Amino acid sequence: MMTVPPPVHVPVLLQEVLDHLPLPPAARILDLTLGLGGHAEALLAQADAGARYLGVDRDPEARALAIQRLGRDARFSILACAYEDLWEDPHFLAWRAAQAPEGFDAILADLGVSTLQLRTPERGFSFRDEGPLDMRMDPEHGLSARAWIAEQTDESLADAIYQYGEERASRPIARAILRALQEDRLSTTRDLARAVYTVIPREPAKRKGHSDPATRTFQAIRIAVNGELDRLAASLESAVTHLRPGGRLAVISFHSLEDRIVKQTLRRLAGIYDGPGRTAPVELPKILKLIRAGGIAPGEAEAAANPPSRSARLRVAERLP
Ligand SMILES: C[S@@+](CC[C@H](N)C(=O)[O-])C[C@H]1O[C@@H](n2cnc3c(N)ncnc32)[C@H](O)[C@@H]1O
Repeated sequence: MMTVPPPVHVPVLLQEVLDHLPLPPAARILDLTLGLGGHAEALLAQADAGARYLGVDRDPEARALAIQRLGRDARFSILACAYEDLWEDPHFLAWRAAQAPEGFDAILADLGVSTLQLRTPERGFSFRDEGPLDMRMDPEHGLSARAWIAEQTDESLADAIYQYGEERASRPIARAILRALQEDRLSTTRDLARAVYTVIPREPAKRKGHSDPATRTFQAIRIAVNGELDRLAASLESAVTHLRPGGRLAVISFHSLEDRIVKQTLRRLAGIYDGPGRTAPVELPKILKLIRAGGIAPGEAEAAANPPSRSARLRVAERLP
């Protein structure tokens, strides 16, 4: 029987990540979203023999492929964990105490889903392929997308689709999805897409070259099912406490909601006040220095070669002494 090779995940903004995470001798590097280890492999290629790299991912399939790729490198360790839970995780704390007692020189978070997840129909992330309506990054924990939808009301589902998908037709779409569920027509990814198309037909969008009408709803449900934005700000704040002075945090986001949270969190930790009024009610502690404050987007060549990278934004900040 022929085996189909797993889809390749092209690491996004790779050169920019390497340029903005300069590694000192014996660098300590923490990768909060290891994925298939593309960024990890390139960072390890720049690091010396004394470096140590800890890769974290909540997806067992991604970890297995990353181990195939990097497991022979003695500098590399891997931890099964959601980064939101990492900061209290005893394995992480033991690794940190033994291998990085002074803190990390570089922490990377490349947020969102990997190509592996999107292109594996059985994972249920994509409206392009028929698959079970799952969408969990860690299929061993939590509710599948179908089970999560079954717990929603018209209103809560519409709110999630509006908030996480920025979908203006969120209310009729939520009603169509819950109607499909009641009528036992909502088991697969294509069923979910079909429910969306009853509200926004696919053909006119396709003819006009717009993205598929199901894109925003799928994004919203995936974010809700995985709690992707729930503890992002708190996790970035925790990450910063594990940087050594002069160490850098680099975060790649893929949509405006995510980027807004990253931007606001880093600015707050850099002592910049964005709240109402001209000045902060209390002085904000200045823990970080922003590097390229506007963020870094892929260049034209990368956007053309890897279209999904177009929406990516890299933000980098350095821990002050
Ligand atoms: C965009 S991919 C990372 C790709 C990686 N940089 C590479 O070059 O191969 C994002 C990865 O982060 C993982 N992930 C997403 N949210 C996570 C979380 N909260 N905790 C741990 N891993 C997470 C996903 O399972 C996925 O494998």
